[in-house]
Amino acid sequence: MHPIAYYQQVVADYFAQTAVTKEPKNLYDPVNYILSLGGKRIRPVLTLMTAEVFNADCRAALPAAVAVEVFHNFSLVHDDIMDDAPLRRGNQTVHEKWDTNTAILSGDAMLILAYQHFEQYEPATFRELAKLFSKTALEVCEGQQWDVDFETRNDVTEPEYLKMIEYKTAVLVGAAMKMGAIVAGTTTENANLIYDFGRYLGIAFQLQDDYLDAFGDPLTFGKQVGGDIIENKKTYLYLKALKQANAYDRERLLQWFAAQPEDPAAKVEDVKNIFTASRADAVTKEAIEEYTLKAFDTLDKMDITDDKKALLRAFGQNLMKRTV
Ligand code: IPE
Ligand code: IPE
Ligand code: MG
Ligand code: MG
Ligand code: MG
Repeated sequence: MHPIAYYQQVVADYFAQTAVTKEPKNLYDPVNYILSLGGKRIRPVLTLMTAEVFNADCRAALPAAVAVEVFHNFSLVHDDIMDDAPLRRGNQTVHEKWDTNTAILSGDAMLILAYQHFEQYEPATFRELAKLFSKTALEVCEGQQWDVDFETRNDVTEPEYLKMIEYKTAVLVGAAMKMGAIVAGTTTENANLIYDFGRYLGIAFQLQDDYLDAFGDPLTFGKQVGGDIIENKKTYLYLKALKQANAYDRERLLQWFAAQPEDPAAKVEDVKNIFTASRADAVTKEAIEEYTLKAFDTLDKMDITDDKKALLRAFGQNLMKRTV
């Protein structure tokens, strides 16, 4: 096994070497732009790490890891259009830097580029990876549509929310890890367990993303703080605040989420106060921990050595401490 920084470097080196230099520039420049902004690269790191957890050379999993990360970046380019987001990784979003049509087509190209990486595998492995990838990608689309549908609904339930984040975010984390397992050729049971580990970790990850969207530090977060509030996103914070706030705050919260004010500053500030006063923030933190522990539970049944389980646990613990 290697330290996390090693896997990150392997991925970074790969992207640095494979920038697309073809024409037309307006198709490929945005692709290189978003990929060069990096991000945490947790998904490809998890693919590489999982391959080693199941005793393969991590480099064998590099094409799959890169496919997952390119797909993730594609989903961000389109997500930023859908969420009307100005900032990504501390820089302008693609549709702001270029325009929406450019972001749509460059995103489409990234989806294809992602698939192409699987061509490096032998037919049997290719088939298994492509099958998992297609299923996952469709689920991400389903989750994204629910996320948007929920913006204009005021009766979203907690189970609906949990399913939405499982689809838009968690299944890709699960699939990233399962691909490492597939490349390593471990047992089906191990591959399914690591998928569940990643899926639970992914749910915790999206809960944390919701938390940081409201309470992250604008100087370091890299995205517009309060973006979910501005867009009337039915996040865990919102659902818990609706349940737990006093009648006065609850009414105000409903009113804010029925409006899209020209200047959102007062809305963001007041809604954050309601989140805090109702302890929605504290309960969200608890849920992040709960889902991280659910991920750890899957390790009990996994057929790997204890030092590898410890490594996977450490990864999950560190994710909970993240600020970006
Ligand atoms: C952002 O993902 C989108 C979510 C699914 C929450 P990341 O937080 O992994 O974004 P980067 O890749 O590190 O920028
Ligand atoms: C994004 O969820 C999930 C996908 C991109 C599929 P968010 O909309 O919360 O992600 P951020 O906060 O913009 O990164
Ligand atoms: Mg978004
Ligand atoms: Mg979104
Ligand atoms: Mg978010």
